[in-house]
Amino acid sequence: MPGKGSCKIINAMQITIALTKGRILKETLPLLAAAGLEPLEDISKSRKLIFPTNQQGVRLLILRGVDVPTYVQHGAADLGVAGKDTLLEHGVDGIYEPLDLGIARCRLMTAGIQGAERPRGRIKVATKFVQSAKRYYAAQGRQADIIKLYGAMELAPLMDLADEIVDIVDTGNTLKANGLEARDTIAHVSSRLIVNKASMKMKYQPINALIEKLAAAVKPD
Ligand code: PRP
Ligand code: MG
Repeated sequence: MPGKGSCKIINAMQITIALTKGRILKETLPLLAAAGLEPLEDISKSRKLIFPTNQQGVRLLILRGVDVPTYVQHGAADLGVAGKDTLLEHGVDGIYEPLDLGIARCRLMTAGIQGAERPRGRIKVATKFVQSAKRYYAAQGRQADIIKLYGAMELAPLMDLADEIVDIVDTGNTLKANGLEARDTIAHVSSRLIVNKASMKMKYQPINALIEKLAAAVKPD
């Protein structure tokens, strides 16, 4: 019969992976399946937030996308899948980013009203990507007043809340539907596998095995 000590070792080998609902989940599940990992129930049809998998000791968490790096940074999840846009905002303290999964591709861009001239002096910028926007306009040598929003950024230039927005562009349909135009690309975005640095040391073998299987499942560019 195993003693208390060995139970602890088994617990330490529990692997927790933080995911987020929506496009990232939809595109991550086939990669996990190719790596031999599948949730035991349909995540999209459940209100639960923790899901066991076909591999004992491996579970999935469903979080808001912006919270995935926080869970991984603090070791509340060993691994996670997060968009590069989210990682650029959050920073990567305590986090490794070993694998570009090549999914949920899009661009982080500036945008404004079609045909409108950019102001010469200070520019008002509405975005939920505050850190990326600050860095971008500073690198351009532009004085920018950043206005934090949580969504529907496209409205801001239309209502004269801002001269430009910094937002994700995928098909460009949302910009077009609102009379806006994409301007400069700040970053190319795709989802990344992230790993807590301490977990990588403590649980090297199972985590590295998973990274290798996922890497083999990722489509080349
Ligand atoms: C995202 C993004 C853009 C749109 C880009 O918004 O903020 O608005 O999708 O996609 P497209 O280029 O294919 O049109 P989302 O629907 O996630 O809503 P939110 O910004 O209000 O969170
Ligand atoms: Mg949007």
